[in-house]
Amino acid sequence: MASSDVPMRDDDAGAAETGFARPQAGAARAMRRQRRLVERWMPKRLYARSLIIVIAPMILLQSVIAFVFMERHWQTVTERLSTAVTRDIAAIIDMIETWPREADLSEVIRIAQERLQLKIDLLPPDPLPAPGSKPFFSILDHSLSEQITRQINRPFWLDTVGDSSIVEIRVRLDDKVLRVFARRSHTYASNTHIFLLWMVGTSLVLIAIAVAFLRNQIRPILQLAEAAESFGKGRPMPNDFRPRGADEVRRAGAAFIQMRERIERQIEQRTAMLSGVSHDLRTILTRFKLQLALGGSKADRDALNQDIDDMQSMLEGYLAFARGETGESPGSFDLAAFLDKQAEEARLRKRALKTSLTGSPDVIVRPNAFSRLLANVIGNAFRYARTVEVTATHTRGALLVVVDDDGPGIPPEKREEVFKPFVRLDDARNQDSGGTGLGLAIARDIARSHGGDIVLEDSPLGGLRAVIRIPA
Ligand SMILES: Nc1ncnc2c1ncn2[C@@H]1O[C@H](COP(=O)(O)OP(=O)(O)OP(=O)(O)O)[C@@H](O)[C@H]1O
Ligand SMILES: [Mg+2]
Repeated sequence: MASSDVPMRDDDAGAAETGFARPQAGAARAMRRQRRLVERWMPKRLYARSLIIVIAPMILLQSVIAFVFMERHWQTVTERLSTAVTRDIAAIIDMIETWPREADLSEVIRIAQERLQLKIDLLPPDPLPAPGSKPFFSILDHSLSEQITRQINRPFWLDTVGDSSIVEIRVRLDDKVLRVFARRSHTYASNTHIFLLWMVGTSLVLIAIAVAFLRNQIRPILQLAEAAESFGKGRPMPNDFRPRGADEVRRAGAAFIQMRERIERQIEQRTAMLSGVSHDLRTILTRFKLQLALGGSKADRDALNQDIDDMQSMLEGYLAFARGETGESPGSFDLAAFLDKQAEEARLRKRALKTSLTGSPDVIVRPNAFSRLLANVIGNAFRYARTVEVTATHTRGALLVVVDDDGPGIPPEKREEVFKPFVRLDDARNQDSGGTGLGLAIARDIARSHGGDIVLEDSPLGGLRAVIRIPA
């Protein structure tokens, strides 16, 4: 009755159907769990990992050598030593039995003491004490017992326990008991600690060398990472950076420097070209303006003036894009004040802007560039939608700004496209709202030059959501 209450588990049922599927899945799961465990416990830094790679095999090798060597060596030496002591005792017993007179016995005791360094005496034939507890690590006990059994073959009692430097052996003779005190060092290979000392000592020296060596190897990698990181965030590269270390690291460093130079050259060329174009156009615009001031009806002039203003602001846009604002140095930017200003501007234009800020309002960025980034994205939202919401979250080391609107949005397949310079979607063109299609390109440029990025998503308000992430 009890068993009928136990429901069959789902996977049990599955296993019954598929036969061996369950053990396989179980093994895979166990392996995954193991891998996760190793990943969790494995140190994350290259330095620690390399140390493990060096130290682990060393410890393993030494342990194996120590274990095998000690086993063999220690056992053999101990066996030899106990054989010798047992042989001495056997000889003494022979002498005692050959010359059993009192006077001879004292001679035997003297010989044993002086020549064999065994302190012996003869006890009345009381029964031998009960065997004591065996020591845990009992090579000595074991080999002595074996030798006594083999060479003397009489009832005996042994005391090898304890730290004392003496081993006590009692052997039952026909009418008495022979008690022998032997030096422990005569029966037993006890100089193994020197061997261990040498091993631990050399390992420590090896580890110290490995630590120093690895530190030197890893420093260039860290320096390369730092240089790449600061370049990514638009900061100047450390002054003393140059490729160092092992060949591969040196190659990566050299490649990085070349890449940086190429990028800088491209930016320079772009800036030069656009500045040239803008400058030429500006000159023409100024001439236009002058000519306009000189003639034509007021209506004509107003329309043309408007066109010229539009062109001028476009040119400013091109120039800003070309300049890329990379020259600016990082500083403190007050996000709360910026959002208040945006909200105020929206109120004046009778538009709805909701802002919220969590965390510290102070962020370390390039202030002008960063405010252009936010202004471009918020400006887009206002241009293409009615209601706009800005949510900023500043936690330790990361700033997240989300701009939501209720406009037409951008279809998912176009969301990367609009970041390209001069790309405007058709409906934006039809509105003829005077944009150049550079706003998002500039915004992404700035976000990336801070080591962050900007992506577009669907907004819960129904329009577009722009997500800006910056490490700050
Ligand atoms: N919030 C938005 N909702 C709908 N479409 C948008 C939104 N933001 C941008 N877009 C689309 O992406 C295109 C590119 O935007 P981008 O800001 O780069 O250029 P722009 O706004 O047209 O011109 P400007 O250089 O003046 O910013 C826009 O033309 C528009 O079609
Ligand atoms: Mg725009």
